[in-house]
Amino acid sequence: MEIRQHYCRLACVAVATLFLVSAAEKYQAPYFIHQCQRSDPEINKCLQFSANTLVKHFRNGIPELEVEEVEPIMINEIHLALGSGPDGYRAIFRDVEAFGVSNMTVTGVRSNLDSMEFQLSFYVPHIRARAQYRSSGVLIMVQATGGGDYWGEYEGVRAKVYFKARQEQANDLTYLQVDDIKMDFSVKDIKMGIKSQQDNAIIEAALNLFINTNGQELLKEMKPSIKKHLLQTMRTFINNLFGRVPYEYWILDE
Ligand SMILES: *[C@@H]1O[C@H](CO)[C@@H](O)[C@H](O)[C@H]1NC(C)=O
Repeated sequence: MEIRQHYCRLACVAVATLFLVSAAEKYQAPYFIHQCQRSDPEINKCLQFSANTLVKHFRNGIPELEVEEVEPIMINEIHLALGSGPDGYRAIFRDVEAFGVSNMTVTGVRSNLDSMEFQLSFYVPHIRARAQYRSSGVLIMVQATGGGDYWGEYEGVRAKVYFKARQEQANDLTYLQVDDIKMDFSVKDIKMGIKSQQDNAIIEAALNLFINTNGQELLKEMKPSIKKHLLQTMRTFINNLFGRVPYEYWILDE
């Protein structure tokens, strides 16, 4: 509710200028939107094209949506915990910057416009990340307490995002807002490592070897924390988009 009011203050002017509607060109879409017919038997293909059109424009920013810089994606904090007890390994990654997400392609859409449910599949060829980390505890039998820089290279990232929207009416138009959102992702190939502030080169090499040979397992442990942050980011993103672009401009319901 608070979000909608916020957007209305921010966006109603923008929306009003964007969507000046004349009788002849009802719901003429702005340049970053590809419209789909509700009756289209291939509507999912159309929505996929529409999503990719949006992605392409987002890469260069869309001032009408107050989106200027999309790279990098920032995440404040990601947690990792391995093992339990006083010697369990704990790490916190802060100020995570991920580059390359805007190179995504939408590879599939499934939709149900009656229940307002959507599932989008994404492919990102390459993501490069860097962060600061602090860790404590024991990893592969070495004291791994410390801190420093983390880097990661992720090849072949696939993600699926499901969301269910509710409709809110304002000024004879329909604004979708996210009711429920879920996601999952996988990475085909991971390379990552740390550069610690302590200079014990042998321990650092051992840790890096461990980190690299166990990339998938480590990612699995970090996943809940990453997902939580991505879900928040996506919810805000989708609500911003739908709060500014009414449903009628996406889907023509003849
Ligand atoms: C996006 O992909 C192109 C082509 O592969 C690449 O040159 C560019 O660096 C990528 N962008 C980012 C932010 O990684």
